[in-house]
Amino acid sequence: MNTAYAQRMSAMKPSTIREMLKLSERPGVISFAGGLPAPELFPVDDIRAAAERVLAESGAQAFQYGASEGIASLREQIADEMAARSIACSADDVLITTGSQQGLDLLGKVFLDPGDAILTETPTYLAAIQAFQCFEANFQPVATDDEGVVPEAVDELAARGLARFLYVIPNFQNPTGRTLSLARRRQLAEIAARRKLLIVEDDPYARLRYRGEHLPPIKSFDTSGQVIYLSTFSKTVAPGFRTGWIVASPEVRDKLVIAKQAADLHTSSFDQLVLERYLRDFDNSLHVERVCAAYGERYAVMDETLRRQMPEGFSWTRPEGGMFLWVSGPETMDAMAVLAEAVDAGVAFVPGTDFFPRGGGENHMRLNFSNAKPEVIRDGIARLAAICARRL
Ligand SMILES: Cc1ncc(COP(=O)(O)O)c(C=O)c1O
Repeated sequence: MNTAYAQRMSAMKPSTIREMLKLSERPGVISFAGGLPAPELFPVDDIRAAAERVLAESGAQAFQYGASEGIASLREQIADEMAARSIACSADDVLITTGSQQGLDLLGKVFLDPGDAILTETPTYLAAIQAFQCFEANFQPVATDDEGVVPEAVDELAARGLARFLYVIPNFQNPTGRTLSLARRRQLAEIAARRKLLIVEDDPYARLRYRGEHLPPIKSFDTSGQVIYLSTFSKTVAPGFRTGWIVASPEVRDKLVIAKQAADLHTSSFDQLVLERYLRDFDNSLHVERVCAAYGERYAVMDETLRRQMPEGFSWTRPEGGMFLWVSGPETMDAMAVLAEAVDAGVAFVPGTDFFPRGGGENHMRLNFSNAKPEVIRDGIARLAAICARRL
C-alpha cells in the first residue's frame, strides 16, 4: 500500500521501548513501568452506589449529549477543590476534559504552529512530549535541578520571546518525583507576568503527598492570567473515568472549548455524573488518605530495598509523594540494555531516554511504586539490583 501520511507523522516515531514494555505485560512480570494506581484500592463499592443513584435519578441526562464545558455541578465541585488548593476560581473558569491528557492535546491545538518552541523540564512527562510532538513542537529543555525547573533559565529563554509556553509538573514530577520549591513557584508566576510567558501547570499528583507540607500551585500566585492549570481525577478516584479539568482565563478557556468541540463535543455525561455523585455522597478525602498511606508505604519499601540491594554508583530521588522515583546509574550505564535483561528476569521499568525530547538520559530508569504490593516490590527490586550489579 502506498499511503501518504501527514507531515506531522514523521516526527512521531514508534518507540522501541513501548514494544519491549509490551513484553512486561506477560503474566508473572513485575512491572515498575506503568503509571498505574493500585487497582485494589479503587472505591468500587462507592462508585457502584453512585452509578445506581445516577441511573435511578438522572438516567436521561446521563445518556444525553451535554455542554462542551462539562456538567455544571461537577464544575462547581471542582471550583471548591481549587479553593482548597489556594486557587480562586468559579465554576465558569473550569473546563472538563477527557483526562488531563486531552487537556495537553487541546493546548497543543490552541497554541502550537509547526516549529513553535515550548520550554520543558528535563526530563519531562513522556505523553506530554507525544502530545506536543503531534503539533510539531520545537522542544527547548530548561535546566532543572532537585528543586525543579530553574527560574533563571526560564527567564533567560523567555526574554528571547520565542516560546509559546513553559510546560511544568510542580508536584512529584513524572518521571523524577521531584517537587518545585515554594520560592520557585512564586518566581515562575512573576516571570510569567513580567515576560508575558504562558505557563502550563500540569498537576495530577497534588493530593498524593505522603510526607511534608502541601505547597500552593504556581496558579495560586498568578496575577496576570498567564498560568493554565490542569488536574485530573485519575489519581484520586480512578483513571478509567478519563475525567480531568483545566482552569484558565476566560479568553483561553473559550479557545479551548472550541478545540474541545472539534475533538469530542464533550466528556462522557455518564462518567461526569457518576463522579459528581460519588464526590457528593461519599468521602473522597478518606479514600485519598488510604491511597496515600498505601503508596507512602510502597515508596518506603522501594527506597529501603534499593538502599539494601543496589550496587555503588547508583542514586535515586526521594519523592514526598506521587507514584515514581528516578534512578540514576553510572554515566556508562545503558538502561535499555538493563531493561532487555530485566524483562527476561521478569521485571520491567521505563528507561530514561523516553523522557528527554532532545535525546540523552541513557543512564536513568523510572520506577513506579504505586502499583505493586510491598512483597512484590522487594522481589522486583532484588532482581533489578542483581542485574545492575552484574552489568557494572
Ligand atoms: C504529568 C502527567 N500529566 C498528565 C497525565 C494524564 O492524566 P489523565 O489520566 O488525567 O489523562 C499523567 C498521567 O500519568 C501525568 O503523569
